[in-house]
Amino acid sequence: MHYTRLSVNLVAVLALPTFALPTNPIDKRADNHTLNRERADAVKAAFQHAWNGYKTYAFPHDELHPASNSFSDSRNGWGASAIDAFSTACVMQLPDVVNTILDYIPTIDFNTTTEQVSLFETTIRYLGGMLSGYDFLKGPLSNLAANATAVDEVLKQAQRLANNLAYAFDTPTGIPSNNLIFPNSTDGSTTNGLATIGSLVLEWTHLSDLTGDQTYAQLSQKGESYLLAPQPASSEPWPGLVGTNVDLKTGLFQDASGGWVGGDDSFYEYLMKMYVYDSAKYSDYKDRWILAADSSIAHLASHPSTRPDVTFLAEFEGQTRIFQSEHLACFDGGSFILGGLALNEQKYTDFGLALVNGCHDTYVSTATGIGPEVFQWVENSTSPTDPNNPPPPADQEAFYNKSGFYITASDYVLRPEYLESVYYAYRATGDQMYRDWSWDAFLAINNTCAVGSGYAELNNVNVPGGGGFNDFMDSFFFAEVLKYAYLTQAPDNVWQVDNQGANQWVFNTEAHPFKVNGPPV
Ligand SMILES: *[C@@H]1O[C@H](CO)[C@@H](O)[C@H](O)[C@H]1NC(C)=O
Ligand SMILES: *[C@@H]1O[C@H](CO)[C@@H](O)[C@H](O)[C@H]1NC(C)=O
Ligand SMILES: *[C@@H]1O[C@H](CO)[C@@H](O)[C@H](O)[C@H]1NC(C)=O
Ligand SMILES: *[C@@H]1O[C@H](CO)[C@@H](O)[C@H](O)[C@H]1NC(C)=O
Ligand SMILES: *[C@@H]1O[C@H](CO)[C@@H](O)[C@H](O)[C@H]1NC(C)=O
Ligand SMILES: *[C@@H]1O[C@H](CO)[C@@H](O)[C@H](O)[C@H]1NC(C)=O
Ligand SMILES: *[C@@H]1O[C@H](CO)[C@@H](O)[C@H](O)[C@H]1NC(C)=O
Repeated sequence: MHYTRLSVNLVAVLALPTFALPTNPIDKRADNHTLNRERADAVKAAFQHAWNGYKTYAFPHDELHPASNSFSDSRNGWGASAIDAFSTACVMQLPDVVNTILDYIPTIDFNTTTEQVSLFETTIRYLGGMLSGYDFLKGPLSNLAANATAVDEVLKQAQRLANNLAYAFDTPTGIPSNNLIFPNSTDGSTTNGLATIGSLVLEWTHLSDLTGDQTYAQLSQKGESYLLAPQPASSEPWPGLVGTNVDLKTGLFQDASGGWVGGDDSFYEYLMKMYVYDSAKYSDYKDRWILAADSSIAHLASHPSTRPDVTFLAEFEGQTRIFQSEHLACFDGGSFILGGLALNEQKYTDFGLALVNGCHDTYVSTATGIGPEVFQWVENSTSPTDPNNPPPPADQEAFYNKSGFYITASDYVLRPEYLESVYYAYRATGDQMYRDWSWDAFLAINNTCAVGSGYAELNNVNVPGGGGFNDFMDSFFFAEVLKYAYLTQAPDNVWQVDNQGANQWVFNTEAHPFKVNGPPV
């Protein structure tokens, strides 16, 4: 046992002296990145509350049902919430939680599950969570770990899990099947989706860099290669923006529908994150991100008829735009801001901040202060009789006039994307306004979603109290919501986005930070 309770800054100073002190005196952003202790402690207390509920009533099952103090195993029963909480407990520096999870990981049997295994979900949550905890406990937070052997075992477990998943890539093209039935078959799907193919490459490449076995990087990058050079040409309605479903046998896209929305989202996110992870090796990913970003600014940016100050990104079917978006898409502001920081291109940061402002509008306009799952708006430049541009229903007309969107799915399932993008906005600008936005959203979630031994999903964000609960606390509440809310109030540190003007860590799509492999950008 040799963990200590050093202050966050001191840990960085001791572990990584090269990065610890402000080396760039002209970077004024860092001036505003000081600890807000009261808020950071309040977010930590919410994490500890949720963890205590999970630990008491659900651990080592996948998730807590907080209202009934029961549990479920929707992620194969390997302890999804524990693994997703791992890197958050690290950055919050909670040694008791870290060591509970660290002792547990070596005991997981990744060979066995009775349910279908999602390659994508397993990669971003389990592989991502273990690799991130390993990076922290081998690196700047090694003081937290009581058992160094168990830390080594975390990487071995990640590798065992990847070995069990690897047969997914055994298709005619090398594009993986997503839905696996262990030990060696699939659900028989003949296609896979853009996000589920395109959000593996960061985790599998990092596993190769940590283990020295290049197989994992090669498998994931082969699958990704079909997304970087999309065929047929008609599946790319604007440069860089592509369809959704890809045939496993031919590698051909089956459609030209998409956007920065669920099913497609983290493909675009990982184009920039691969470049941040290793700017020397993955500039071709960055080139594809730039194409998609420029096309989105040119063709998908849309301002609601009643709120010209608000910016959303439309979805598309071919070159037809659909004026609909969703909570999941609210990561887009963060992706543009990360691109702006990494490429030193203010136009991407500015556009990202405009998107953050749009999602802020979806939060502050509702009765709970939390944004809805799906929403639409009306665009002036498209005919009001166009079926893709419908007016709001009568009972939401006044709401639409004021807010610039109307709600088509009113639930909130503890999603993180708004807090994620506000985090990037704060890191990029140092502007306290974004810290306040994050804090306001945290308070709304903490006050509205709290029930029983944890936090639960809401049925309706636009009635006071949230319209009742769905008794489920997803693992990403630990991994993402509480981490982004916390890091926004936390001081500069090596793992923070754009620490002292460069990204030394990059967050996977489940908010698990990985140490970058190449020159920090
Ligand atoms: C999992 O399977 C591998 C390969 O068959 C085997 O070596 C290992 O012992 C198994 N682990 C467990 C916990 O059964
Ligand atoms: C440390 O972790 C290893 C690997 O999980 C385990 O075998 C060992 O018993 C642990 N040691 C202690 C003192 O808990
Ligand atoms: C798949 O696994 C089952 C159960 O272990 C085994 O009986 C079968 O031979 C395997 N099939 C292939 C093609 O490896
Ligand atoms: C849409 O048209 C109305 C009426 O002409 C105008 O007031 C509003 O500013 C326009 N909205 C946008 C986003 O241009
Ligand atoms: C919404 O705005 C439109 C256009 O200004 C107006 O005609 C309509 O009466 C407004 N509806 C409500 C319910 O305020
Ligand atoms: C720091 O925060 C203050 C207060 O919100 C703000 O006025 C100032 O512009 C910020 N500094 C920078 C460099 O953004
Ligand atoms: C968060 O919610 C908990 C439980 O309801 C409450 O005790 C705590 O005071 C809240 N935190 C803040 C900062 O409001």
